[in-house]
Amino acid sequence: MKLFAQRLITAASLGFMATCGIAQDGIAQDAAPVQDKAPTLVERLSDPVYMSWMSHNDVKTCVKCHLAGPNVGEIIGDVQSNLTAFSRRKEMDLWVLKDKHTIARRRVEPFDPSRTEAELKSLMEQLDTMAGNAARQLQDKLGIEIDSDQVGLTKFPKEWIGESNFLSRRICDKLWGEGSSETEEGYGKFRENCLTCHGGYQGDDTGFELDSTAQAKIGIGCLYCHQQGDNPKWIADHAAPNPEQNWRLLPAEVKSTAGMRDLANTAKQADLCFDCHVGNRSKNMFVTHEMYAAGHPPIPSIELHTFCGEMPQHWQTPSQLHDSLSASPTRDAYFTVNYPGVSEIVGAGKTYWNTRKMLLGALVARKKTLDLITETANAHTWGDYSLYDCASCHHELDSDSLRQQRGFPGAPGRPRQHEWSTALLNIALEFDQPESAAQAKQAESKLTAAFAAEPFGDPNRVAKTATALADELEKTIAAVEKKPVDAAVAMNLLQKLAQTPKNALLTYDAARQVVWAIQTIVDEMKSEGALQPDDPILQAAIDLGDASVSGLSSALPSGRKEFIYATLKGDLERRENYNPAKLKQQLTQFGKLLGVTQNAKLSVR
Ligand code: HEC
Ligand code: HEC
Ligand code: HEC
Ligand code: HEC
Ligand code: HEC
Repeated sequence: MKLFAQRLITAASLGFMATCGIAQDGIAQDAAPVQDKAPTLVERLSDPVYMSWMSHNDVKTCVKCHLAGPNVGEIIGDVQSNLTAFSRRKEMDLWVLKDKHTIARRRVEPFDPSRTEAELKSLMEQLDTMAGNAARQLQDKLGIEIDSDQVGLTKFPKEWIGESNFLSRRICDKLWGEGSSETEEGYGKFRENCLTCHGGYQGDDTGFELDSTAQAKIGIGCLYCHQQGDNPKWIADHAAPNPEQNWRLLPAEVKSTAGMRDLANTAKQADLCFDCHVGNRSKNMFVTHEMYAAGHPPIPSIELHTFCGEMPQHWQTPSQLHDSLSASPTRDAYFTVNYPGVSEIVGAGKTYWNTRKMLLGALVARKKTLDLITETANAHTWGDYSLYDCASCHHELDSDSLRQQRGFPGAPGRPRQHEWSTALLNIALEFDQPESAAQAKQAESKLTAAFAAEPFGDPNRVAKTATALADELEKTIAAVEKKPVDAAVAMNLLQKLAQTPKNALLTYDAARQVVWAIQTIVDEMKSEGALQPDDPILQAAIDLGDASVSGLSSALPSGRKEFIYATLKGDLERRENYNPAKLKQQLTQFGKLLGVTQNAKLSVR
């Protein structure tokens, strides 16, 4: 590909710029090291996800600066460049190339296999035309030659559509009647009940009609997560010519008033993810047992740091940001404004940010599950089985099972709540302070008792105790936001996790939370230099999530190419064969490496 001088860019090329999202002007840059390779122009023009997002305003606007990098010359010349050290292209490239949210809606459009071919053909044609137009404009207006065989799509990409669409169709057929999703009314149900999570549908959005599927947004776009309400003022404000001096240092309230959602606040960030990954009935984001029984894959437990990393993360963690802003005179001011309390005590450079995120994620996850429970009880739809531990009902009959050995909080045989959301709760509560931890633990036991009081629990008592506990957690969340985690705290948490009692590891999802948390801390100890690369602790932490030992796998089906449905059978088999006793043994060995000698008293439930 030939690179022509910048001066060739004329006003006439604006159309192309808009089509493939290439920015006109450079932006003042902080000096920062550059590493990964950005996608080339050909890669962009040949990527169906990229090309189709380019026709949507809420992404097109952002891409002009955030994905294409400073200017077209640099893109075409494959020059590595950053937007600024604060907001770099390197991270943003991940969004365009890998993130699954970009395509979440397309892969659950309910297709019956016979409709697919025509659907695919028309999509291919549209995208080919767009890529062809862009290539022609490059040639005509900028004098850049791209071999037309190179761009455009030669075959339909596998991640674009697949078995998951047929599964979705089967789910809709079972819930609302055979073929219903091909009618306005039936598609409306799909939109209201499914696209809230799978497409970012928020009640009054357009582009979510039955006949809009070919042109419509194919997934969850930038504005869904980054904008608060309808106010777009922040977009112009934050990209002002000298952002170093103004926007970055504004307090979150000011940014929110201008319409930008505050995601630097870790609890608010967790809240965004958990709406879809745990549920939020007030936004109609709720996978009911009917949906599960119709075929919806089980929603797995979620550990915030792990999921952000796997998203994959298109931003810098605070510690990465701290490093890349090392030359910036406003670095400390930024951390003081955005992380009050944390950076003053331990210093932003020494804080264990990922471990802190894990703790906050654990608290917010518990709070979200409590909110779901309360909303369900108050909405008089009490008893939806999806709020209980699936394995309460779905397991083999066995008279000497681990569950039997553990005992029952009330009469034997009553379904319990999901167990995963309490797996990391105690370490997070104790990190705050022992007194409030004691209060929250008391509230937890009241809630357990309310669930055990009668089959499926007493909804009034459940709602009351769940609300009290949620209020308690709200206070803890606010306190933990302001409290730094240092190397010593991280080690202490790790030792506690290594001593998690077997009874708290009975369900696959709860055990996964513990393993993810351990891996988060160990990774961070490594990156902070507290563990040498050859320390046996590192391998032992990896082995905890290796399915060949206990059956538990810490891997996630993340990335655009990964379907859940395709691997669901294997995942369900792993869950069935998971062996808590083996994991407990592994944890004990792991504890020995950490110097845990005797089982210190630690109640996890
Ligand atoms: C005209 C260029 C431009 C456009 C268009 C643009 N941005 Fe930015 N954005 C920037 C720059 C430059 C920064 C870095 C600011 C700094 O260094 O202080 C930034 C920073 C950000 C940040 C971090 C801000 C903070 O205060 O934490 C987010 C989030 C962001 N952009 C999202 C978006 C989204 C979403 C869109 C599309 C709606 C968008 N941007 C459109 C140039 C742009
Ligand atoms: C609360 C949010 C939420 C709602 C509501 C929801 N889903 Fe999902 N769905 C998810 C999540 C999260 C996953 C990924 C599960 C995983 O990671 O294993 C998923 C997975 C799926 C998959 C598998 C996708 C794949 O990659 O193979 C299909 C198909 C699906 N959902 C269809 C539906 C349909 C149809 C509805 C409505 C009847 C629906 N979903 C409602 C959150 C939701
Ligand atoms: C599923 C939600 C989600 C979507 C979709 C999303 N983002 Fe983000 N984004 C986040 C979160 C969470 C952060 C982290 C904020 C923080 O820690 O300060 C973030 C951070 C950023 C940053 C921060 C600056 C940096 O580089 O560190 C930029 C810029 C950004 N996003 C741009 C975009 C653009 C552009 C799009 C669309 C192409 C997009 N985001 C789509 C959730 C999302
Ligand atoms: C609007 C709803 C929505 C929001 C908000 C959202 N997600 Fe997702 N996310 C989904 C859906 C739906 C899928 C499954 C897509 C599929 O497989 O088809 C998914 C998949 C994922 C995956 C891949 C693993 C898997 O189970 O498929 C990760 C990791 C992930 N999300 C992390 C996050 C994080 C971190 C945030 C917050 C920054 C977030 N998500 C916010 C809806 C959402
Ligand atoms: C209170 C008991 C109970 C709980 C808890 C429960 N289920 Fe079910 N589930 C049932 C019953 C009863 C059926 C219907 C079985 C039948 O039709 O023979 C069923 C059916 C299903 C089916 C259809 C396949 C089958 O075996 O019939 C799936 C899939 C399913 N449940 C998933 C889940 C998931 C995922 C969870 C946890 C989020 C869950 N269930 C929680 C009782 C429960």
